[in-house]
Amino acid sequence: MKKTHEHWASSVGFIMATAGSAVGLGSLWLFPYVAGENGGGAFVLMYLLFTFLIGMPIFMAELIIGRRSQKSAVLAYSALTGESANWKILGWLNVLTSLIILSYYSVVSGWCLSYIFMSLNKFTAGKSSAQIQEIFTILSSSSGINIFWLALFLLINFGIIISGVRKGIEHWSKILMPFLFIFLIALFIHAVTMPGFSEAVKFVFYPDFNKLTSSGILSALGMALFTLSVGLGVLITYGSYMQKDQNIPYNGIVITIMTVFVSLIAALTIFPIVFTFNFPPSSGPGLVFKTLPVLFDKLPATILISAVFFSLLFFAALTSTISLLEVLVANFIENFNIDRLKAAIIASSLAFIIGIPSALTYSKALFPTWSEIYGKNFFDTMNYITSNWFMPIAAIFITILAGWTMKKEIVLEEFSIGTKSKWIVHPWFFFVKWIAPIAVIIVLLQETGIINFNR
Ligand code: PFF
Repeated sequence: MKKTHEHWASSVGFIMATAGSAVGLGSLWLFPYVAGENGGGAFVLMYLLFTFLIGMPIFMAELIIGRRSQKSAVLAYSALTGESANWKILGWLNVLTSLIILSYYSVVSGWCLSYIFMSLNKFTAGKSSAQIQEIFTILSSSSGINIFWLALFLLINFGIIISGVRKGIEHWSKILMPFLFIFLIALFIHAVTMPGFSEAVKFVFYPDFNKLTSSGILSALGMALFTLSVGLGVLITYGSYMQKDQNIPYNGIVITIMTVFVSLIAALTIFPIVFTFNFPPSSGPGLVFKTLPVLFDKLPATILISAVFFSLLFFAALTSTISLLEVLVANFIENFNIDRLKAAIIASSLAFIIGIPSALTYSKALFPTWSEIYGKNFFDTMNYITSNWFMPIAAIFITILAGWTMKKEIVLEEFSIGTKSKWIVHPWFFFVKWIAPIAVIIVLLQETGIINFNR
């Protein structure tokens, strides 16, 4: 059953879908608290540098691999390397990474759904700060409830994915992304009026290099890859749906700027609230789910602000998880010759099953001794192996493929279709061939302890 490969209906659709993949909980949830934990400004500066100098060139390389091969990761790598079986392994690593990220990311997305519902139910009314914070602890450790939201969230993803590239992914991204931007800008405008705004600006932009540790630099690189969705084949799949005349460098730059913009605006929306009420900026993963509801409760229009904020998170999460699910679905369709519906059923069910231990992490209903044995809870372990190992390793191989293995003329030709700014071609290639892989290798060596920059 050979069907023709689907393509995006429009350039805007491609941008919305791909920006939708990039802009997610990484920018809105992780970035603010990790920046907070790493002292603000200097970390933010490193994140920006890594995003533009390393993440963005690899982002474009993935799009090239996808569009040139018209395939998803597994078959794309083999098609571009003379049917090499070894390169297929990298494709399956991408599939595995997408599956694992999808599984734990959907648990957090489920919390967002729960918080929308709770906000509309005025969950903070009449409660003390401690009681409001306690609700997150109760929610995250309620086994059945976590599994319920996980299942519902994956079901929504499934419903979108079965309609295909144009009618599913593109259609919904074009609806959800504008809402996301409108909600974010509205909350940002509100934050600008708060007394803590100037302190937040200083915190986010003033680079105090004394506060920047080597591990902070490394997490800035990890964050740059994660927020751009680089290193697991999402952009290969989405690139394979691009029209031949779409301009890869232009789209890459636009989407990177959008992602960075959202990360910065998210930090400048959250920290003014935090500083206005004298909370510590480094309150960790609970920043969004514990601290913010306490603060929203002190603001006028609590229900509105809280519901809008968590809907924003939910929309951002959904457009990211759709892209992860699509990596699985597209690779399953191409490799096992099954139709989209079957592939979507298999992929969503796998994500659900693998998501269960993540959903039960805080209740300890499954693997209660996991943390004692492996040093991190199940959820954090999944996050750690994917973001710190699988994604950077795949990113290195992607640069090897585009920078060394593929014919240079082909790579440059695919890169420059539709571009008037020809000057950008060679600097980009230099970054893909040399700078990006070397930088990522340094990070991995640091991770393994082979080199150690820690003072
Ligand atoms: N970029 C998304 C975020 O920042 O939340 C997360 C993500 C989505 C990572 C898709 C990787 C991916 F392939």
